[in-house]
Amino acid sequence: TGTQPGWWREAVIYQVYPRSFADSNGDGMGDLEGIRSRLPYLKELGVDAVWLSPFYASPQADAGYDVADYRAIDPMFGTLHDADAVIREAHALDLRIIVDLVPNHCSDQHEWFKQALREGPGTPLRERFHFRPGRGAGGEEPPNDWESIFGGPAWTRVPDGEWYLHLFAPEQPDFNWEHPAVQDEFRSILRFWLDLGADGFRIDVAHGLVKAPGLPDLGRDEQLKLLGNQVLPFFDQDGVHEIYRSWRLVLDEYAGDRIGVAEAWTPSADRTAMYLRPDELHQAFNFHYLNTDWDAEALRGAIDDSLDSMRPVGAPTTWVLSNHDVVRHRTRFGSLERARAAALLMLALPGSAYVYQGEELGLPEVTDLPDEVRQDPSFFKANGQDGLRDGCRVPIPWSGEEAPYGFGTGGSWLPQPAEWAGLSVAAQTGDPASTLELYRAALRIRRAHPALGAGDGVEWLPAPEGVLAFRRGDFVCTANTTDVPVRLPAPGTALLSSTDLAEPDLLPADSTVWWQG
Ligand code: BGC
Ligand code: MG
Repeated sequence: TGTQPGWWREAVIYQVYPRSFADSNGDGMGDLEGIRSRLPYLKELGVDAVWLSPFYASPQADAGYDVADYRAIDPMFGTLHDADAVIREAHALDLRIIVDLVPNHCSDQHEWFKQALREGPGTPLRERFHFRPGRGAGGEEPPNDWESIFGGPAWTRVPDGEWYLHLFAPEQPDFNWEHPAVQDEFRSILRFWLDLGADGFRIDVAHGLVKAPGLPDLGRDEQLKLLGNQVLPFFDQDGVHEIYRSWRLVLDEYAGDRIGVAEAWTPSADRTAMYLRPDELHQAFNFHYLNTDWDAEALRGAIDDSLDSMRPVGAPTTWVLSNHDVVRHRTRFGSLERARAAALLMLALPGSAYVYQGEELGLPEVTDLPDEVRQDPSFFKANGQDGLRDGCRVPIPWSGEEAPYGFGTGGSWLPQPAEWAGLSVAAQTGDPASTLELYRAALRIRRAHPALGAGDGVEWLPAPEGVLAFRRGDFVCTANTTDVPVRLPAPGTALLSSTDLAEPDLLPADSTVWWQG
């Protein structure tokens, strides 16, 4: 699939979280050279593309989603030369590289913001952000009642008395996307990475760039949640589409089918599809699927909705189970069996699938990290009530009996559980019962089997309660989401099963089976 136009339509895209993937210099923090050295692993795993979470110059107030310089690499991750090496070597292996773009906000250490602060109220640089006088006597009250997604007011006051808007941490001031300089700057940043060979962009908070005119009060004081899919005056405003139309023109200037992937939280699948109209972006993360329980009826509904919503715009559906912001699906679903079954189900569906680093090892969420090692700002801002994102960001175990299990030579920025020795890449390689070999086998079959990935629909087959069964050409997938074995006449010859198939007519509890038939 690698070099064809439309490569992204069925691509399996692996998310690398750079600080937690592989550490080449022994500072306990993953880096670009670590990623480069592990590209052969990703090739062998069988993915088509790699999405790298941010590695740009950043004070790391939000693990790099607070960018101080969009054209520079943070020294913690390496140099521009290292980024270039990752892209070149990936291409030599026929792997695509998607970089993360963070256009909604920057870091408070970005030059523009520092200059805006220095120059004071009414100066031009302030217009590139959302600065406002406060309300109430002496302007002591924030300009409106918006809450930050990480908790607390979405406004912070600066010493001269003005307030600036930040939908996330105070260290992440929001850009004013009405401003032509902001628009020009981001088109230029796109070109910078496209020139370096990036095959596309994952667009952070793609639904947030444009705010409702006049920044109106929300009128209710409930705490807003990023994952809430709510209709909000700073989410999913119609004006945002103009931006993506202008980006699409830039992407299309380049050969090789460069893509934009929206992280867009919208109130409905149809609203998400609007980001994927033919003159806008290519893919959007399917958060509806990510939020669906391990339950046949719910899954079937989510699959049908996803496929139905994409058909009118002709975009491929995506499927995603885990990422760096949510509890790992093994833990969400409650068992390794279910995690394995969910992976096989996802990889049997038409469209593009996202795999988050470590899910191919069956890693669980780390739920007992001591407070003093946690770094996620949502953890701090919400007093530990809400921010559980460190638990899915623990560095990957590669090999060996002792921490950091081949992650590097100098420890790991978050401690790895002792049980992870048995979950390392080396421990699982060659063991046919391992989750790693299950993913490898699934991706091998998916690559070889034309009915997998392609198309925009599935043909549902009759199945007992709690079981999903669908056909795609001569391929059949069954998923038993119940915790007891279910009898079903074998629809063909078993190709792959997430749990040992003792009898072909008996689907094991919490299992997915791929059939040729
Ligand atoms: C990213 C988060 C980040 C936030 C602010 C999200 O959607 O995935 O990790 O904290 O955007 O940039
Ligand atoms: Mg390092």
